[in-house]
Order: sequence, then C-alpha cells, then structure tokens
Amino acid sequence: MTQNAPTSSPLVSVIVPTYQEVDSLGPLLARLGEVREGCDLDVLIVDDNSQDGTEALIESLGLSWVRLIVRTGDRGLSSAVLRGLSEATGEHLVVMDADLSHPPEVIPDMIAALQQGADFVVGSRYVPGGSTEDGWGVLRWINSKVATIMARPFTRVRDPMSGFLAFQRDRWASAVDLDPIGYKIGLELIVKCRCRNVAEVPIHFSTRRHGESKLSLAVQLQYLRHIVRLARWKFPGWSSFIPFAMVGASGVAVYAGLLWLIEATVGDRIGRSAAIVIAIAVTMLWNFLLDRRLAFWYASRSAVLRQFAGFCAVCAVPVVINYLVTRWLLSDDVPTPWAGVAGALVGSVAGVIFNWFVSRALVFRKPPPPSLPGGGEPPLQQ
Ligand code: GDD
Ligand code: MN
Repeated sequence: MTQNAPTSSPLVSVIVPTYQEVDSLGPLLARLGEVREGCDLDVLIVDDNSQDGTEALIESLGLSWVRLIVRTGDRGLSSAVLRGLSEATGEHLVVMDADLSHPPEVIPDMIAALQQGADFVVGSRYVPGGSTEDGWGVLRWINSKVATIMARPFTRVRDPMSGFLAFQRDRWASAVDLDPIGYKIGLELIVKCRCRNVAEVPIHFSTRRHGESKLSLAVQLQYLRHIVRLARWKFPGWSSFIPFAMVGASGVAVYAGLLWLIEATVGDRIGRSAAIVIAIAVTMLWNFLLDRRLAFWYASRSAVLRQFAGFCAVCAVPVVINYLVTRWLLSDDVPTPWAGVAGALVGSVAGVIFNWFVSRALVFRKPPPPSLPGGGEPPLQQ
C-alpha cells in the first residue's frame, strides 16, 4: 500500500525504514521539513506493517513530499532499504534511521560531499567532530567495535556500521549481487558497489528517545553470516583456502586423537592395522563433510555421492603415505598420538597441493553460472 505518488524528481530522496517508530516520525519529519527549506528533498518511508498508527499519522500530516510504503509480505531492515532505493526518484539517495539517532541537518553536507566527487558518504561517529551520545552500555560499545573490526578487510571506512548513508543514483544502479541478509546495508553497498572514494561526514549519534531498538541477538548472528558472505564474494580464493587449511589441521588432531582412543580401548583385539584404517576412515569422513560445507561452499549441494567418491580418490595418495608413516613410527615405539600426528602431517603435506588443485578441478566443481534470460545483467534487487 502506498500513500502519495511521486510527482517530479527531487534532488534528494531520503529513505527511512521503519518498524514501530510512530512516536519518532513526527519530530523526524519536522526536522526534515526544515532541512527541506534549503535542500530539495522528498522522503520515502518504508514501513513493515507496524500497525502502530504510522499510516494514520502520515495521512494526517498531509505532506506532499512524504510518501509511505507499507510492506506486508517482505520483512527486515535491509530489504526495506532496498525497496525504498528501488522506488526513489531523487538524483541523490540518502538512507537514515527513523529514531532520531541520525541528525537530518547533516544531509546537505553529505550531498555536498557527493557533489565534490565522493562515491559514497556515511554519517560517521568515528571521525573528528563525530560522537556518540553517552549512555551506550559497555556491551553495545564492545559489540559495535568488534563488528567494525570485522568489517576492516572490506573497507577502510571508520564507521562502516553506520546506517546513515548517501550516494548517487548511478552508484546504486551499478550494484551487483545485493543480498539483503545483512542488517548492515551500508557495508553491503560500499563493498558491492565497489565504492573507492567514501567520504565520512561527522555526526553526533543520539540515543533513541522513543520505542525500542530492533537489534536482537538473531540480528547480530546474521551479521556474522553477512561477513562470511561478503568474504566469499570479495575474496573467493582465500575464503576457500583458509577454511580448507583449518579443516586439514582439525583432521590431523581428529586422526591422532582417534588413533590413541582406539589403541587404548580395543587396540589389543583388532590389531594395529585395523586401528589405523578405522581412524583414517573416520577422519576422511570428517574432512569431507567439513570441506564440503566450509571450504568448497560453492560446490553443488546435491552431488554428494559423486563428490565423496572423488574425494576418496583424491585422498588415496595422502592416505597411503599416512598409513605407512604411522605404522612405521608405531612399530618404532613412538607414542600413539605423536605417530598419528606425524603420519597425518606427512601424508597431508605430501598430498595437499595435489589434493587442493584436484579437489577444485574435479570434485567440488563450481556449478555453471545461471543463464539469464536475454543474456542481460543479473537483477539488482531480490
Ligand atoms: N522496515 C523495517 N523493517 N525497518 C526496520 C526493521 C525492519 O525489520 N528493523 C529496524 N528497522 C528500522 C527502525 O525502525 C529504525 O528506523 C532503523 O531501522 C534502525 O533500527 P534500530 O532498531 O534503531 O537500530 P539500531 O539503533 O540498533 O542500529 C542503528 O545503529 C547502527 C550503528 O550502531 C542503525 O542505525 C543501524 O543502521 C546502524 O548501523
Ligand atoms: Mn536506533
């Protein structure tokens, strides 16, 4: 449902995602109204069916430059922002929170930075002149810092967590693979629009006066998933090789531990060779399942049996070397876990290069890119 259709294109469209922000909207629109006296802007509120009187309020205010979209199907902050962006008509696009944390008076400075050549502008707490209102608990502060550090490999922006953003319409049009899982739509846009020249305009970040924050634990866990997805998008090689190496290391520990456990319990009954074979088999399964999920995340989800057969073939060389080294060391009275560690290490190192390249080429092949109707660009929005 939409109130007020756009008339002509303004210089700036301000997108405000809302969920149960009726008490903040009046003061926010009053302040935006003042900014509007010196800066041609319209406002697009994207509300997720708050049912808190937002619709009645916007209707009663009767402001021609404010448009309300009420979504009843989709939910979530980032997808609300994307919806607003796709419907906005302004030459410059601004995204801000409704809860008065972000000062609308800074919008003209943000637009000026765009006009001076910035690709993207964030309202920033962490540049000189920026600040955060007292009263942020230690936990929220630590949370924000840790999240900011995790974003470091993707951008040098001081405040990549900011939800106060401005960019040109063209920039937004160049975005690829936007994935609205992230709460941090600013970080997503900076990375996926490949913005280089990001300006930061200092803001004083106020504590919300009305309503509640929607930053739940689930939303924070989503941020971790978001970071993983961004890493896979931006650094596909490393985000495959690093988990592959870590799974390999975990496999060495699993193998040595298992070997020790088997020797200590049923070793006398089943004999040394059987103990080694069982430990190797379980470790291979461990590595296969983790590699498939963490290292070769792009591989097809369905061809598991074919992948397992290929994985076993690829492991043949390291496995035989591992078996021989472990046996030889055990018969030389090297203590069990160390014999296992040495066997697995020698086996893996001998096989690792072979294994990595052959796995990538034969076992966990990338699926072909989906063919697009008409051979055009992938769609920008979900
Ligand atoms: N449509 C819609 N749907 N809007 C939502 C949803 C949703 O599911 N969840 C939150 N919003 C809106 C809120 O109504 C508010 O206007 C804005 O998004 C930010 O939500 P808050 O709940 O106020 O977030 P916050 O204060 O925890 O986080 C803020 O600070 C971060 C930096 O610390 C936001 O500004 C973030 O964007 C910012 O990154
Ligand atoms: Mn807030």
